[in-house]
Amino acid sequence: MGEIGFLDDHRTWVLTNDSTTYALRLDEDDVPAHVYWGPKLRTEDIPQLLEKPLPWWDGFNDPNEGLDELAADGGTKYWTPALQIRFADGTRALEWRYRNHEIHQDHLRIHFEDRHYPLRITLHYRLKSEVLERWTELTADTEVDVTRADSATWVLPIRDDYRLSHVTGRWAAETQLRRTPAPHGETTFASRRGITGHHANPWIMVDDGTATERHGEVYGVALAWSGSWRLTATRSSTQRLTISGGFGQDGVTQRVGPGNPLTTPVIAGLYTNGGFGTASRAWHTYVREHVLPHPRELRPVLYNSWEATGFDVDEVNQRTLADHAATLGVELFVVDDGWFGARTGDHAGLGDWHVNRDRFPGGLKPLVDAVHALGMKFGIWVEPEMVNPDSDLYRAHPDWVLHHPHRRRSELRNQLVLNFARPDVEAWAHDWLDRLVGDHGVDFLKWDMNRPFSEAGWPGDADPDRLWVEHTRAVYALIDRLRQDHPSLRIEACSGGGGRIDLGVLARADQVWTSDNTDALDRLRIQHGYGQLYPARAMSAWVTDNPNFVTGRSVPLRFRFHVAMAGVLGVGGDIAHWPGDDLALARELIALYKDIRPVVQHGALYRLRPPADDGVTALQYVHEDRTVVFAYRQAAHFNAPERPLRLDGLDPADRYVDSDAGTTHSGAVLLARGLPLGLPTGDFASVVLRLRRKI
Ligand code: DGJ
Repeated sequence: MGEIGFLDDHRTWVLTNDSTTYALRLDEDDVPAHVYWGPKLRTEDIPQLLEKPLPWWDGFNDPNEGLDELAADGGTKYWTPALQIRFADGTRALEWRYRNHEIHQDHLRIHFEDRHYPLRITLHYRLKSEVLERWTELTADTEVDVTRADSATWVLPIRDDYRLSHVTGRWAAETQLRRTPAPHGETTFASRRGITGHHANPWIMVDDGTATERHGEVYGVALAWSGSWRLTATRSSTQRLTISGGFGQDGVTQRVGPGNPLTTPVIAGLYTNGGFGTASRAWHTYVREHVLPHPRELRPVLYNSWEATGFDVDEVNQRTLADHAATLGVELFVVDDGWFGARTGDHAGLGDWHVNRDRFPGGLKPLVDAVHALGMKFGIWVEPEMVNPDSDLYRAHPDWVLHHPHRRRSELRNQLVLNFARPDVEAWAHDWLDRLVGDHGVDFLKWDMNRPFSEAGWPGDADPDRLWVEHTRAVYALIDRLRQDHPSLRIEACSGGGGRIDLGVLARADQVWTSDNTDALDRLRIQHGYGQLYPARAMSAWVTDNPNFVTGRSVPLRFRFHVAMAGVLGVGGDIAHWPGDDLALARELIALYKDIRPVVQHGALYRLRPPADDGVTALQYVHEDRTVVFAYRQAAHFNAPERPLRLDGLDPADRYVDSDAGTTHSGAVLLARGLPLGLPTGDFASVVLRLRRKI
């Protein structure tokens, strides 16, 4: 449990949780200034940190630069601006004046105002387990233009060096982990696409260049937002590094005024000591316990029809797939794209959300009932934010899409983006989604979003730029409302694979579709990058057919299953055509998954060997008395002897039983020498091992 205190004499706030202390103060000019972020300190130690820095004034630099809690543009501060405003008379600089603060349990609010103009700023700090959440709120009595409003600026302690960890990617190649020395200057990771994006993800971790998987201090920040965003790491010649982050779109101004406040999304910060492994586990705990809507639930084994039937879904082929899925032990059957309107390919029908009667003559209900009768939940694909120009919806409402007058409407995948900031569009979407879920007993929606914004205009609206933020807020509000009205509804967030994975969507989705690339080897890397911040509990992973449609690679079924079983297992192959042996193996492995599922979905992840081009990749999950180890060897070479795999997260004093092998191991030996894996010979060898602490 965290604690928040105020040192009156020093005008300093101290926030402490189990392992971390964070402190900030008001400087002489009332500017909120950073004091400390790092290992836990006693409150009585904090005043020592407040000693004045050496006087240093060279005429070009403000000695307090780089120390602002929210680096506002103005005065002699030239740091990467976190807050840029312009008042009606053209004045741009902000001058802070402290008003008061409130502390309610884990939540600190510090209220400021401008020294002259009727603008108020509240900085929020909230402790959640080991994570500190921060955000900013602006209110004004007259109109103010806000060109930048970051959620927070994070000031890191001065270290000998800095290194950034982050992920990059593209469609079918998401979340590729990169570690790179922090360049001097400003390094910006951003999305200007109106969605989170495949190419980057809104988090950064920072270490001094020496942290490893098991050792070292790691700082991390992550933004809870699914629209355009920006995180900037600023490294200056004063040796300081900050990260400022928030939502927003380059060149787009937000207006704040009477009845129109601005509240930024949460940006979460986490300090850990124990390497990248400890950092990831702490992030996973935070997401599981404080972000996901139903953290205690176990996600069901899912079947999805996309790779089997593509756009050619109909009642007959979906029933056949459902029959097979049920015999395998699948718990949730999901019909993907192609069930509505004239959607027989990606060229038409998107937006016309009525069931295609040629394909489902009796509507959806007979299929839903059949799936339920087989003992499975029923899920269905939707893409509410999109429209094909060749659709009745677009013909009726061409003005509902994002567009500018006198500009082309650029299509991607033959589709345009509906402007969800429009109340009529949001109401229309709510109406059909509510009926789809309510009338049919839909248990699960796969909520897709298959293109970024372009020509993002809103002709006729007095403040069209607000759509950049309000589109995302409207999507959130719609999902929240559906969830509230249909409490058993569960949601998978998807954006052409992993284009919308972030802490914002995870607050209202039960899982995310990680990537359209289901090739098992590529998935090891994608899952490795995903898992740096996000937990296995939300990572949807399917077993699909050979050869893989993205890579053309064929991989043994067992290996494909073992890779997908490290997340939320799903099956996406054409199981109606799988041979009997494959179906039998699938049944066996799904049963095994159900046994290990609590360990995978709720356990602590130890990345024992990261994915390499060759050699063995290995992961371990630990939950209560149980441990599950996954090991994958891509290729065998030279009859090389197998190295035992040193485990982690166990108690050296305990003994662990492998009931499959009938062996008992000392925890100390598993940690020190390691576990003989017994991987079969040959390429694409994999094992799943189960251990239980001996009572
Ligand atoms: C993109 C998703 O990532 C796929 O899984 C599938 O649902 C298609 N969209 C359907 O159009």
